[in-house]
Amino acid sequence: MKVLRVLANPKPVEKSASLRIEKAFTEALEKHRPDAVFEAIDLYRDEIPQLDEKTLPSFFGAAPVDAETARKMARREEILKQFLAADLVVIATPMWNFNAPPMLKAWIDAVLVAGKTFQYTATGPVGLVPGKKVVLCIASGGVYEGAMAAYDTLTPMLKTQLGFIGITDVTELRAPGQGAGGEKAKASTEAAIAKAKEAATKF
Ligand SMILES: Cc1cc2nc3c(=O)[nH]c(=O)nc-3n(C[C@H](O)[C@H](O)[C@H](O)COP(=O)(O)O)c2cc1C
Repeated sequence: MKVLRVLANPKPVEKSASLRIEKAFTEALEKHRPDAVFEAIDLYRDEIPQLDEKTLPSFFGAAPVDAETARKMARREEILKQFLAADLVVIATPMWNFNAPPMLKAWIDAVLVAGKTFQYTATGPVGLVPGKKVVLCIASGGVYEGAMAAYDTLTPMLKTQLGFIGITDVTELRAPGQGAGGEKAKASTEAAIAKAKEAATKF
């Protein structure tokens, strides 16, 4: 089993609830599945070229305008291949302004590609990535329940994007309420870590 760890947080792991949950999950998985091969992409340290004035035409098939654009397009291809090769993708992300940090969106823009991970057909769009599983490790300052649930546009966005390319097996591990600080935040993270260790035994 190939596991891709997608780390969407500039913080050091010990200061990040989402990264701590992801670490607990992957460490438990490593014990449970000795055959698992892990690879990581650190979205705040590794290069994730974004679509811009020069790369966008190449995204639509034009020849790269210069060597730098060709290099960026090759790197985007590498990111896509790394994603396609994984059986399980573990995404660690904080909630920022009710959504994802921009580098996670940049990574999504590199892996949701027409003709590669989805395609439009006469009967509508079809996902081309069936069978892949995803684990989401999400930390937020607030708690998104009841009237506040609609403010969480992060989880629905990720599940919509993943579902669009054919991924419906999504496990959610969350540590909400980090904004409360102290014992409350600690208890939320610890509960998510315990859930992560348990979830790892299901893969
Ligand atoms: C730029 C920024 C924006 C944030 N926006 C939100 C938000 O909209 N809702 C929320 O509940 N928490 C928000 N937070 C708080 C984080 O989600 C919270 O601190 C969480 O623990 C971050 O995850 P981490 O501990 O893995 O870094 C924000 C934090 C930052 C730095």
